[in-house]
Amino acid sequence: MLTSEEIHPDNASNEAASEGSGAALRRLHRYDAVHEITRIETGRENGFLLRGARAGLAIVAAADGIVRLKLAQGKGAEPDLRTTPAIVREGIGESVRIGESVRSRESAASEEPAYTEDDGSWELHLAKLRVVVHKPSGRIEIYRGGSPSGSGDSAAQDSGPQAEAPPLLVLSAIEWTGKRRTTATIEGGEGSHYYGLGEKTGFLDKQGESFDMWNSDVYEPHVPDIDALYQSIPFLIHYRCGAPAAGLFLDDPGRTTFDMRSGGDRAILASENGNLDLYIVDGPDLKDVVKRYAALTGRPPMPPRWAIGFQQSRYSYMNQEELLTVARTMREKRIPCDVLYLDIHYMEEYKVFTWDTERFPDPRGMIAELAEMGFKVVPIVDPGVKKDPRYSVYAEGIRNGHFCTKLEGELFVGDVWPGPSAFTDYTDEAAARWWGDLHRFYIDDGIHGIWNDMNEPSVFGVPSKTMDVDVVHRNEGNPKTHGEWHNLYGMLMSKATYEGMARHLRGDRPFVLTRAGYAGIQRYAAVWTGDNRSYWEHMAMSIPMVLNLGLSGVAFAGPDIGGFSHHATGELLARWTQLGSLFPFCRNHSAIDTIHQEPWRFGERVEAICRDYLSLRYKLMPYLYSLFYEATATGLPIVRPLLLEYPEDRQVSNLCDQFLLGKDVLAAPVLRPGTPARSVYLPEGAWYDYWTGARHEGGRSILAETPLETMPIYVRAGAIIPEQSLALHANERPEGPLKLTVYSGGSGSFRLFEDDGRTFGYEQGAYRLREFVWAESGSERTLSAALLNDGHIGSGQPLELIVEGLERRPDSILLSGSGETADWTYDASLKRLSIALAIDGEFRLTVG
Ligand code: GLC
Repeated sequence: MLTSEEIHPDNASNEAASEGSGAALRRLHRYDAVHEITRIETGRENGFLLRGARAGLAIVAAADGIVRLKLAQGKGAEPDLRTTPAIVREGIGESVRIGESVRSRESAASEEPAYTEDDGSWELHLAKLRVVVHKPSGRIEIYRGGSPSGSGDSAAQDSGPQAEAPPLLVLSAIEWTGKRRTTATIEGGEGSHYYGLGEKTGFLDKQGESFDMWNSDVYEPHVPDIDALYQSIPFLIHYRCGAPAAGLFLDDPGRTTFDMRSGGDRAILASENGNLDLYIVDGPDLKDVVKRYAALTGRPPMPPRWAIGFQQSRYSYMNQEELLTVARTMREKRIPCDVLYLDIHYMEEYKVFTWDTERFPDPRGMIAELAEMGFKVVPIVDPGVKKDPRYSVYAEGIRNGHFCTKLEGELFVGDVWPGPSAFTDYTDEAAARWWGDLHRFYIDDGIHGIWNDMNEPSVFGVPSKTMDVDVVHRNEGNPKTHGEWHNLYGMLMSKATYEGMARHLRGDRPFVLTRAGYAGIQRYAAVWTGDNRSYWEHMAMSIPMVLNLGLSGVAFAGPDIGGFSHHATGELLARWTQLGSLFPFCRNHSAIDTIHQEPWRFGERVEAICRDYLSLRYKLMPYLYSLFYEATATGLPIVRPLLLEYPEDRQVSNLCDQFLLGKDVLAAPVLRPGTPARSVYLPEGAWYDYWTGARHEGGRSILAETPLETMPIYVRAGAIIPEQSLALHANERPEGPLKLTVYSGGSGSFRLFEDDGRTFGYEQGAYRLREFVWAESGSERTLSAALLNDGHIGSGQPLELIVEGLERRPDSILLSGSGETADWTYDASLKRLSIALAIDGEFRLTVG
């Protein structure tokens, strides 16, 4: 425990925070900058090289709407334009992809680079952007829109900067001290908001904050002072209401800093490796920035449907009988659940790829019995391989040189759960493949999902808490020190795991969960936000954390519901389960020595609340599953800050005690104990209370009653929400028709995605995508269904169509396109129209 002595005057640094670290650094160190640019070199693939007095700066097109700035310090130096494993570069737009297939689709920008020059500046046209570089100062302004003529003829045009259009982004300086610390200063301007940065503490808007990117195992409480957690996603979004949004991806897997504090409205991005590899991502809308960034670093694959279900974990379920009892209790109590976790106690002496056969005498039998009940088992796999010559994994890894070493060849050994351990070098293809193939051990027992933990990597008992920075990763002949590539360690472990599982699961989609990651982690794993606590504050913080992860490409994320360490209470668990039931990743997990927090541990009332909200998740499965498809196809997040859908609304720029699931469902969780009512902000338009059907006008805050049983949920007028009847696990066939509720009073559409929920067939088109469109004009309302893709032989499930908020009984219901007729009833008191449709394909229904 720290005491007040920490703030003893003698301990204070001389750097006044108000002065700004930039100025202070300037005094302390030799400073250099990209300036005095004397020459431009063309002939570079996709762009240019600007030669300055002390540096070269490559400005190249990465894709349409994305320019890359890569620094080479020193006169005459050549920038290294190889990319890190974060980059995949898909085309922007809607597509389905997965794993390696994406690499064959690499697409660069479609515009030929061109430039003009005058006395004071160079004006580059590339990637459908215009980059103005001022000669003496090195200041860079980036404008939307490419070459005005589109001729691609260098130096032929003198378009001049279009002064009236505000720049997308202004970089006032690129500087470095003592070669190592390189900074880029972004002139955000007044009213700047900053989002993204993946998994960080604090609120949604990061203006006024400063964060480090250095994957860290943080067991201390996650508070605003903690500026680095398990994940590092160096992607920042700059937004000013009314101006185009821009993204900044600093692709450096070593230590970087994003400082939106010391420069006022500026953002100062720093890299500690003498590296500046900065991608600038065009909007103009926030959604475009997110989509382009996801195309650059990869969109998430479809998870198996079971992985979207509720998951129950504990550090640890200690033996076979305990795990089976949890499973049976879930089913007896009719609490929907798909996944049970095995934490480190399933292993013999914490050796990965082993079973403790005293605790788990018949893993295969147990997993088969659980599968019969509709459960999947996900075991934890940590990177540390116990140093024990009798242990085959260690012996094999040593024999084949798969582990991380120092340059001189000395094995790196660090302490983790199994004691002294070696760590696989996942940058080495043979080692990564070996690791992936080891997972046959689990697959043979019936396992389809793996939980990667401690993969920052976490190392006990050393001040750095991680691998020595002078370990060398072999990286296929382009070696990197651990200091340079630290933040990639966890992602490359999950990549090796995902790809190994995919190789051996005979066409089934694997599920990987990870604690550590870097930009692009979404291609391989879902992310949980690590060791939070059973604090109300941590529940509240999980919302902006998951929302910013979503804005940073990681759609499949969630916290430990109920909190990991400390002790949950019934009220906290009820509220956290309500919130978590609508998060993409939904898992209850708690630590050894804490009070058990399975849904039934706090009496019947809390159990019923957990059951009801988890059941809601399963009823909404068609909606949720389709949102996962949207993330796969476009990179858009599943849960969204209101800001993403209502960027012009100044009320929502930092709103993060509510969130949207997709674009149409708004949840307002209760985040403090003993809260009988809460204020809910409804954006413009009309909104329906999901529970009561009551209609509210938006553009204002309302007060919602919040007895313990209620988390307020609203649905946007015009929305179309598909629901199914309750199932106890995601692969149980729901009975009855698919319910489609249209909330009248606005227009809207929804794309319903269906496939087998299991295989990669959807990549080859084995899925069905139906688009439902609701349109209102005068007294006529139509619902049309179009088949955008018809590659899944579905069950031909009938539809139950509900129209909410219909003021009067319709005169007629006309159905065209199918030859079928429709049975309907109208309930005047509920203002609800119900229509049974025995059709499955395209149709058009007119409510007259
Ligand atoms: C770490 C993980 C936690 C896990 C524990 C034991 O603290 O974050 O989720 O339960 O290790 O494996």
